[in-house]
Amino acid sequence: MEKQPKRIIVTGAASGIGRAIALSLAQQGHWVAAADLKAPQATVDAIVTQGGRALAIAADVTDGAQVRAMVAACIDALGGLEGLVNNAGMYSSIVPRPFEQIDLQQWRQLFEVNVFGLVTCCQAVVPHMKAAGGGRIVNIISGTPFRGIPFMLHYVASKGAVLGITRSLARELGSAKILVNGVAPGFTLSEGVMDNPVQLEKLREISKNARSLARDQVPADVVGAVDFFMSEGSAFITGQTLLVDGGAHFH
Ligand SMILES: NC(=O)c1ccc[n+]([C@@H]2O[C@H](COP(=O)([O-])OP(=O)(O)OC[C@H]3O[C@@H](n4cnc5c(N)ncnc54)[C@H](O)[C@@H]3O)[C@@H](O)[C@H]2O)c1
Repeated sequence: MEKQPKRIIVTGAASGIGRAIALSLAQQGHWVAAADLKAPQATVDAIVTQGGRALAIAADVTDGAQVRAMVAACIDALGGLEGLVNNAGMYSSIVPRPFEQIDLQQWRQLFEVNVFGLVTCCQAVVPHMKAAGGGRIVNIISGTPFRGIPFMLHYVASKGAVLGITRSLARELGSAKILVNGVAPGFTLSEGVMDNPVQLEKLREISKNARSLARDQVPADVVGAVDFFMSEGSAFITGQTLLVDGGAHFH
C-alpha cells in the first residue's frame, strides 16, 4: 500500500491491459477514475469489491470536450488529480498488412487515438497538476518501436511518437514536478488480442520465442511497472520507458 495514495485517471480501462492497471493501482491504495468509450462499470465494481475506491467515466480520448469533462468528473468526485495513465489505444483490432496496403486514412485513424488522444489527455490534466504542485503521467507504449516490426507501420510509428513525447514532455514538465514515464509491453494476450485470430497466429509464437522468459505475456505482467511509476520509489525518475516483455529487448 502506498503511504500517499494518488487520484489517477486510467484511460481504456474497460478491458485488457487498462483494466488490469486500474485494478492494480486500486490495490496499491490509489483512487481510480476508470475511463473508456463506455463507462467501465465492471472495472469499477471489481475495484469496489476488493475494497477500493473508483469512478467510471465515459470518455472518447479523441474528443477534447469529453476529455475535459473526464478530468472535471475525476476532480469533482475524487477531490483532485495526481496521476494519468494513457492506456487507451488502437492495437488489437489491427490486421497486419504490408505498408503499401495501409492507406493514409488508416494512418490518420490510428494517430487520432494513439497520439492525438494521448496529447489531448495530457493537455487536459497538466494545468491541474501544475496547480497542485506536481503529478505523474505514465504512457503505455509498445516494444514495437524498439524492435522495428513489419506489417503494422502505422502502429509502430504511433508508438514511436509516444516514446518521443514521453521524453520531451518529461523535460518540459520537470520544473512543474510532473514526471512522465512510459511502459512498453510486448505482445500481450488482452481480451482484444484474443479476439484477433490473425494477430494470434502471426505474433503469439514468434513473440514467445523471442523472450528470455519464453512464455505468453498477459495483462497482469504489465501492472507492476505502472504501479512503480506511480509510487514514491520512482520520485526521481522521469522520461524513461521500461520494457515489460520478458526480456525480448534490452534498452
Ligand atoms: N496487447 C498488446 O499486445 C499490446 C502490446 C503493447 C502495447 N499495447 C498497448 O496497450 C494498450 C492497451 O492494449 P490492449 O491490448 O489492452 O487493448 P484492448 O484493445 O484490449 O483495449 C483497449 C481499450 O481502449 C479503449 N479505447 C479504444 N479507443 C478509445 C478511445 N478513443 N477513447 C477511449 N478509450 C478507447 C477500448 O475500448 C478498450 O477498452 C494500448 O495502448 C496498446 O497499444 C498492447
